[in-house]
Amino acid sequence: MLKVLNHPLISIKLTNMRDKNADHSVFRRNLNEIASLMVYEILRNYQTKPKNIVTPLDKKYEGTTIDKSIVFVPILRAGLGMLDGLLELVPEARVGHIGMYRDEQSFKAKEYYYKMPDVKKDSYVFVVDPMLATGGSAVDAITRLKNNGFNNVHLICLVGVKEGVENIEKHFGKDFEIYLAALDSKLNENKYIEPGLGDAGDRIFGTK
Ligand code: PRP
Ligand code: URA
Repeated sequence: MLKVLNHPLISIKLTNMRDKNADHSVFRRNLNEIASLMVYEILRNYQTKPKNIVTPLDKKYEGTTIDKSIVFVPILRAGLGMLDGLLELVPEARVGHIGMYRDEQSFKAKEYYYKMPDVKKDSYVFVVDPMLATGGSAVDAITRLKNNGFNNVHLICLVGVKEGVENIEKHFGKDFEIYLAALDSKLNENKYIEPGLGDAGDRIFGTK
């Protein structure tokens, strides 16, 4: 199930990022800020459970906490560009990592690293990557997590296209939760998103 998170602040910050004149510091700051805004919206409808605490006035108080562990799993490298923004709002979350790059000829994802924290398999696991282009990287990352027993996996991307969304739905069903800040119009012949924002990893880290 695709949810495009529409909010004026997200649109303004995404415009800043799309601008080819934005340098890596502007790009990175806006990306993290959008990640915070997105996770705020995403967790709005998630379950909580009671948490008992004592206030400084020695009064018992039944507060609230999220009902399961949360794990953010950035796909390296570009997913790292959203991590600080996510952890800013959810500091108790754990972090897994999946290292993957898209081969420039075949456009297929190649995995080079995988590490998940030791948490229950029904934890909320959010795969994080700014770009959902062909969807190959996300499909492989989600498949890896599912094969490892995780059964509550979701996807947070910044910009996606229909082709990528359909690829996820083909593999994991229409109910699989995909969160985007924007659905762009198409992929070009090099499988880059248009209008897009270029190579997310390069723009975050100032590489070429
Ligand atoms: C980018 C992006 C995604 C992938 C999207 O990573 O961050 O992981 O491409 O493309 P897809 O949907 O067609 O798989 P890239 O392979 O450029 O690696 P990087 O993050 O290390 O720059
Ligand atoms: N990866 C990127 O970084 N950008 C795109 O537009 C597509 C894949």
